[in-house]
Amino acid sequence: MKRLFKATAVSPANIAFIKYWGKKDPLLNIPFNNSISMNLSNCLTTTTVEFNSNLSDDLISVDEKEISDSKKDRVTGLLDLVRKRSGIDLKAKVVSRNNFPQRAGIASSASGFSALALSASNALGLNLTKKELSILARRGSGSACRSMIDGYCEWKTGDGDNSSYAAQMAKPDYWHLADVVAITNKEEKKIGSTEGHELAATSPYFRRRLTRLPQKIKRIKEAFFAKDFLAFGKLLEEEAVDLHLMAMSSTPPVFYWNQGTMEIIHAVQKWRKNGLPVYFTIDAGPNVHLICLRKDAEKVAKEAKKLESVSFTIINEPCQGTHLKDKHLF
Ligand code: DP6
Repeated sequence: MKRLFKATAVSPANIAFIKYWGKKDPLLNIPFNNSISMNLSNCLTTTTVEFNSNLSDDLISVDEKEISDSKKDRVTGLLDLVRKRSGIDLKAKVVSRNNFPQRAGIASSASGFSALALSASNALGLNLTKKELSILARRGSGSACRSMIDGYCEWKTGDGDNSSYAAQMAKPDYWHLADVVAITNKEEKKIGSTEGHELAATSPYFRRRLTRLPQKIKRIKEAFFAKDFLAFGKLLEEEAVDLHLMAMSSTPPVFYWNQGTMEIIHAVQKWRKNGLPVYFTIDAGPNVHLICLRKDAEKVAKEAKKLESVSFTIINEPCQGTHLKDKHLF
């Protein structure tokens, strides 16, 4: 019987509490600093990969659209790593579907490249460990290395390809946090995070950020393990503002926020004053991630939906990391 080189994986996006911003090695996606994240149960990418001798080129579609140029090169780059490692040089058909809007500030590259790393390596019979999978996913997109892991994780910078990967910090049920994503703008953002990373070191505040981060990471971990939501939330917001301070003070400056972002930030401050414990964090886009305790998530989503600039919300909990699925997309 002909061997079928086919596999499907599903992967969550993740939200960083401590952000990855700036690359020490842009080719290998090695960051300047450690980062900490939680993965997102309702922001998922499913990817099926089939390597097939009938194909003369890689064929890649994301959300029913065939991709080309630099987007395709990025996917092909990761497939090449898998082909090289397995010694099987076949072209692949890749079909990938997101259940959330692409490139809207929810890291579709994180869920996309982690799902690709697991499905492609599995299709070619590589039986990689979590650590190896996290490293492989990182080569596609830095933050993808964190989506591999269940629940909460830390990505340690490391000092080279083999030591820069994410490892679990706590299981999904360690602390019942939620991330209510408030979507303000479904348009594709104009400047991707990859471009933002390149500019990071041009900010006059970048060195200062790196010097202060180890202490901030220590404090946020203490708050996390003590389940001290107020201390945790304060640090979370401080870090989100720090990321955008870097972006806005780069040369040239990058502005990821829109009016909606500002409206939500003000609302969060008001909700807190009124006794609803919720804090914001924002990645490289206009959408706002409202971090709260799981028991308050519906209330937070209800309040967010009342705002003029919020088109919809997605409630997420920490969940299982990237995993295989029996049912293929084609
Ligand atoms: C702001 O992982 O998307 O979301 O490695 O170039 O693919 P590449 O960048 P990416 O950067 C994510 C940046 C961020 C912060 C974070 O998720 O830590």
